[in-house]
Amino acid sequence: MDKTAQARLVVQKIEQLPTLPVMVMRILEASSSDNSIKEISEIIEQDQTICARILRVANSAHFGSLHQITTISNAVALIGPNTVKGLVLGTSIVDMFKNENTEKRFDVGKFWIHSISSATAARLLSKHLMDIRADDLFTAAMLHDIGKIIFSIYFQDEYRIVLRNAEVYGKKDIVELEMGMFGTDHSVVGFWLGEKWKFPPLLLNCIRYHHKPEKAPPEYRTHCYVVGTSSILSAQVGQGSSVHNLIPDNPVEYLEYLKIPETKYEDIRKELKEQKENIEAF
Ligand SMILES: [Fe+2]
Repeated sequence: MDKTAQARLVVQKIEQLPTLPVMVMRILEASSSDNSIKEISEIIEQDQTICARILRVANSAHFGSLHQITTISNAVALIGPNTVKGLVLGTSIVDMFKNENTEKRFDVGKFWIHSISSATAARLLSKHLMDIRADDLFTAAMLHDIGKIIFSIYFQDEYRIVLRNAEVYGKKDIVELEMGMFGTDHSVVGFWLGEKWKFPPLLLNCIRYHHKPEKAPPEYRTHCYVVGTSSILSAQVGQGSSVHNLIPDNPVEYLEYLKIPETKYEDIRKELKEQKENIEAF
C-alpha cells in the first residue's frame, strides 16, 4: 500500500474512535492551579475505579505519608492537583484502548512507564526554568507519545517492522522510519488524536512538536523543548516506551535553548534515575 493510502487509513481509524468520556473531558478542562483541589476531587469522586487508583497512589511509598489517606480531597492535596490530572488523563486514555486484543499488541506497561518518567522529568526540568509552569508540562509530557498507541494497536504488523528496523539500523530515527512506512509519524498522529479529543492548544502543540520543537509556534516553543528534553531524559535512564533512537549524550540544542548548563542536566538525569522505583510503582 502506498504511503498516502496508509496515512488515510490512520486518519480513518482516528475518526472511528469514540469521543472521550465526559469525566475525562471535565478533568481536561479543570484548572491546574492549587485552588482546583476541590474541583478535581469532585470530578474524581464520580468514578470508583479512578478513586481507588488515586488513593492507592497517595498511599504508596512514593508519597511517604505517615497516615493512611482515605479521602480523595486529601489524596489530591498530597499528590498535587496537576499530577492527579495527568494521571487520570493518562490512565483513562490508555484504558480506552485496553481490551483483550490490544493487550497482546501493545505494551501498555512500557508505554505507561515512559509517560510517567517523561512527566517526572518535565517537572524536574521546570524547577530550573523561569516563566514556565510545571503544572502545564506534566500532562503534556505524559501524553506526548500518544500517537504511538494508534500505530501499535491498529497497524501492528507494519509498526513491528518499523520498530525492528529501528533496532537493526540503530542510526535511523523512529520518526523517519514511521514516515517511510505510513507517510506520517507518531507526533502528527498524536496531534490528530488530540484534535479529535479537543485537547487544549498547549497539549496539542507539545504532542505535535516534541521531536521538532524549533518548528513550534513561538508561544509554545519552550514547552515543546521541555517535553522533547523530558522524553530524551527518560529514554536515557532506560525508560523509553519503545525504541528511541538517536539518543544523544546531551541534547545540546535543547539545553542551549532552555539555557540549562550540562552539569545541571546531569543532576536532573541522576535525580530521575533515583526515582525509577517510584515511577515503576505508579
Ligand atoms: Fe516521540
